[in-house]
Amino acid sequence: MKVVEHVAELREHCESARRAGHRVGLVPTMGYFHAGHRSLMRAARAHDDFVVVTLFVNPTQFGPNEDLSAYPRDLAADVSVAIEAGVDILFAPSVDEMDPGGPPRTKVHVAELTEGMCGAARPTHFDGVTTVVAKLFSIVGPCRAYFGRKDYQQLAVVRRMTQDLNLPVEVVGCPLVREPDGLAMSSRNAYLTADERAVAPALFAALVDAVATVRAGERDARAVERRVADALAHRREIALEYVELRGAASLEPLTRVDGEVVLAVAGRLGRARLIDNVVIQVVDGRVDADLGVEVGADEVLDA
Ligand code: PAJ
Repeated sequence: MKVVEHVAELREHCESARRAGHRVGLVPTMGYFHAGHRSLMRAARAHDDFVVVTLFVNPTQFGPNEDLSAYPRDLAADVSVAIEAGVDILFAPSVDEMDPGGPPRTKVHVAELTEGMCGAARPTHFDGVTTVVAKLFSIVGPCRAYFGRKDYQQLAVVRRMTQDLNLPVEVVGCPLVREPDGLAMSSRNAYLTADERAVAPALFAALVDAVATVRAGERDARAVERRVADALAHRREIALEYVELRGAASLEPLTRVDGEVVLAVAGRLGRARLIDNVVIQVVDGRVDADLGVEVGADEVLDA
């Protein structure tokens, strides 16, 4: 595996891979790898010939009072994970290399899908994400790009950007990977104290509980959201930010649970902001739910 720091060099590697007839797979990340990141790398390795992982803690997607300076970093450990996952290139540019003219004055903004949910508390976040992802797509060129359903709104927004701008990229959504106790894996879980870590699975438990009410016949979107909020109300350590039930692809607000929907939650626990979601399908009265996969199970799935 090569660690590449320069844009021109990455561009060249990707172009020569394509000239050789290889399909390029791209996994954009901010590093501090865990099993969620590993599952994306493995998916790329399974489907593409030349696997590029990018590691860039993108300043423009952090708000002024957010955790940019505290964001966990461990390049040496990340290099080992990427080697083990069979990655060909780990692109780890400096901020100056990515943004030589200073913070970009050109921004990619996806309307509507960025409103509400995480966009409510983080009003500049998604413009930072779509702008940096568009830059990465431009540098890497035609490829398949892998994103986790853990960041459900991000995946929907990136899909829409790719479609709207006719970018030569196939966006692939991958399963949400969980700890054995249900906590969605996240680099930010490193912020949790032992006590907070013990409370954190409550978010997923509340979502599972709400899915059970849908299975039992509840179809009122507000009632399902309330069920999640009520389940978390006695967890005083968790400051709930939102619970929202939306259309799974368009993220349009819904009044009824019908078709494919996403039930998403965000809350603050100590220094960490945690997000989680489940996807529910209601078709002809039949209820199915995608709750993600437990760490380890994703490896079995790929095998
Ligand atoms: P980061 O938080 O490092 O996540 C990189 C990718 O890993 C994203 O696609 C995210 O959805 C996925 N991921 C994180 N936790 C996961 C989990 N538990 N299960 C499955 N996938 C998981 O998301 C970002 O970085 C940035 O916003 C980025 C897209 C790189 C743009 O800067």
